[in-house]
Amino acid sequence: MDIVYFPRDTNDREDWIEDTIQPRIAMQRGHNVIVGDANKNHDGAVIIGNGFKQFNINLGTPLWPRLEQVSKANTYALSDTFANHAGRMFELSEFTPEQIEEAVKKIDRPCFVKFVAYQKATSLCKVDPTEHIEAKLHKHYMYEFVRLGRDNPNECMTQERVDMNYEYRVFVVDGEPVTGAGCVEVHTPLENTTVFNSAMEKNRNGGHIEDRLDLSQSYERFARDVVCPSFAEEGFVDYSLDLFQDGKNGELGIIEINPIHPSGMYAIDYPKYFDSVISVLKQNQPT
Ligand SMILES: Nc1ncnc2c1ncn2[C@@H]1O[C@H](COP(=O)(O)OP(=O)(O)OP(=O)(O)O)[C@@H](O)[C@H]1O
Ligand SMILES: [Mg+2]
Repeated sequence: MDIVYFPRDTNDREDWIEDTIQPRIAMQRGHNVIVGDANKNHDGAVIIGNGFKQFNINLGTPLWPRLEQVSKANTYALSDTFANHAGRMFELSEFTPEQIEEAVKKIDRPCFVKFVAYQKATSLCKVDPTEHIEAKLHKHYMYEFVRLGRDNPNECMTQERVDMNYEYRVFVVDGEPVTGAGCVEVHTPLENTTVFNSAMEKNRNGGHIEDRLDLSQSYERFARDVVCPSFAEEGFVDYSLDLFQDGKNGELGIIEINPIHPSGMYAIDYPKYFDSVISVLKQNQPT
């Protein structure tokens, strides 16, 4: 099985560590790792490293990531599993100031607006029902309404703002949660200590890292017993799952899901993730 490595251009410590651990583990496992060629087709390859995304390199039909799962993950906003475990009210609409204003008024609580038709298209905007909503939206998004709006009734998610505490990311491969870690920006797989790492921050980027084994175990159970089986029924099997605990009622909920590759790793157990991917691909190979 050829492993094709696309390094990314970065001077960020965490990104660099994420990109170097991938070929290192693959080589330690005895795989033949070759560096990606931007002009070649990569049908049947296992892709590692995040450079293909950064430079928009066409991968053809790789074995991994499974591209149909990459596009599937981007449709999470439409899924019942997300709706049942979002732990907050939300409305989907076209990405227009008029429709977003309507959604904020319907929710009638402080909101976050997020463009969801595809990943990381633009930033989130805080909007309160008591303020001048259209003015706030125009100030924040300006030309984004023209650049991104596509008359798609599901492209924008206006959601109630809740106390999102202890944000946590779980990597799900073929429907199984395989490893996880708190969304601690300064952490990388080098800081990993247990498969479901227990270091997390109450407030993302708050700078105060706590060891919460009780909560990492609850997140693992929530993913394994509740969220992943339900997503699998809807056809979502490879993705990164972002979870939170509501600061008001202590309930666990889903922030969002993203395509598994390339998702930021934080302190996940990367070797465990790599081995899970290879084992799933081997099971699926015709004998
Ligand atoms: N409904 C909400 N209530 C409170 N905080 C929220 C809400 N939605 C998102 N956030 C905060 O904003 C952050 C980013 O949200 P989200 O992951 O949905 O967007 P994103 O575009 O993927 O951004 P990022 O690249 O930072 O993950 C979350 O990690 C969380 O801290
Ligand atoms: Mg996110």
